[in-house]
Amino acid sequence: MQYQWYPGHMAKAKRQMQEDMKLIDVVVELVDARIPLSSKNPDVDALAKDKSRVLILNKADMADPAATALWKAWYEKRKFFVAEVNSRSGSGLKAVQDCINEACREKIERDRRRGILNRPIRAMIVGIPNVGKSTFINSFAGKAVAKTGNKPGVTKGKQWIKLNKNVELLDTPGILWPKFEDVEVGKRISWIGSINDDILVPEEMANDLMNYIKAEYPGFLNAKYAVEESVPDEKPGALLERIAVKRGCLRKGGEIDSERAANLVLDDFRGVKIGRISLERPAAEQDKTAE
Ligand code: G4P
Repeated sequence: MQYQWYPGHMAKAKRQMQEDMKLIDVVVELVDARIPLSSKNPDVDALAKDKSRVLILNKADMADPAATALWKAWYEKRKFFVAEVNSRSGSGLKAVQDCINEACREKIERDRRRGILNRPIRAMIVGIPNVGKSTFINSFAGKAVAKTGNKPGVTKGKQWIKLNKNVELLDTPGILWPKFEDVEVGKRISWIGSINDDILVPEEMANDLMNYIKAEYPGFLNAKYAVEESVPDEKPGALLERIAVKRGCLRKGGEIDSERAANLVLDDFRGVKIGRISLERPAAEQDKTAE
């Protein structure tokens, strides 16, 4: 998986989204439930400022349910209609439909007061790469509905997916990038595996990640690897070495292969084999995004 974003790409993607915003009423924004702030592009708030907002906490099956519940309440306070979803299994999709209907209610009422009847509400999916947009669109809209053809005028070239008699979805999602310039964001995005690993040092990533897990989810590493997870005053990397020994990550001659152990830990985390772990909590983030 590799995402190379150049300024030209970014400007173009943003311009495209700005254009598409003119065609829609509701923005359905996907974030990764494990990092609901770091996986959110901050520009979307400005681009979508006049729109109704639905926020999907996607990959909720991988996140800590307690943290996800806190995030749901946190975003609801900020005027989003929020749903927790597993786009792979389809769980939570009914709640998304309800959110969209709720988010559209005011608009439908307003149209009715102005004598406009049967104008469909139009929605658009947005999100950073790898957050699950295609999976979501496929499971949410893929089976049940037919695509509407190109229509003349403003919608020329656009494909709309009819969700129900009131709502149509633009079939190409808006893709924006995470806020990479923030080191913490970059780190969390790399932990979940959404940026190219080749440029990163696995040992550093795994050590950082395990420090976080030890602090926030004590006992998880011990339960997974059957090693002592917190030994006072030991050198950085010692835990990784214990895991390497336990799992036989050794080079010829018995030398410890920390890189292999690091990749094992990262793969286990990404495969939810260490547990359902969220990497952000609203309480810690609140000050940074004061409204
Ligand atoms: P994108 O369009 O936003 O770039 O993301 P995409 O749908 O391609 O999804 C990226 C990866 O995340 C895919 O896995 C997809 O299956 C997985 N995914 C999407 N939504 C969910 C979810 O709610 N829960 C879980 N557990 N996984 C989800 P992949 O390994 O890259 O591809 P594949 O092996 O599934 O084909």
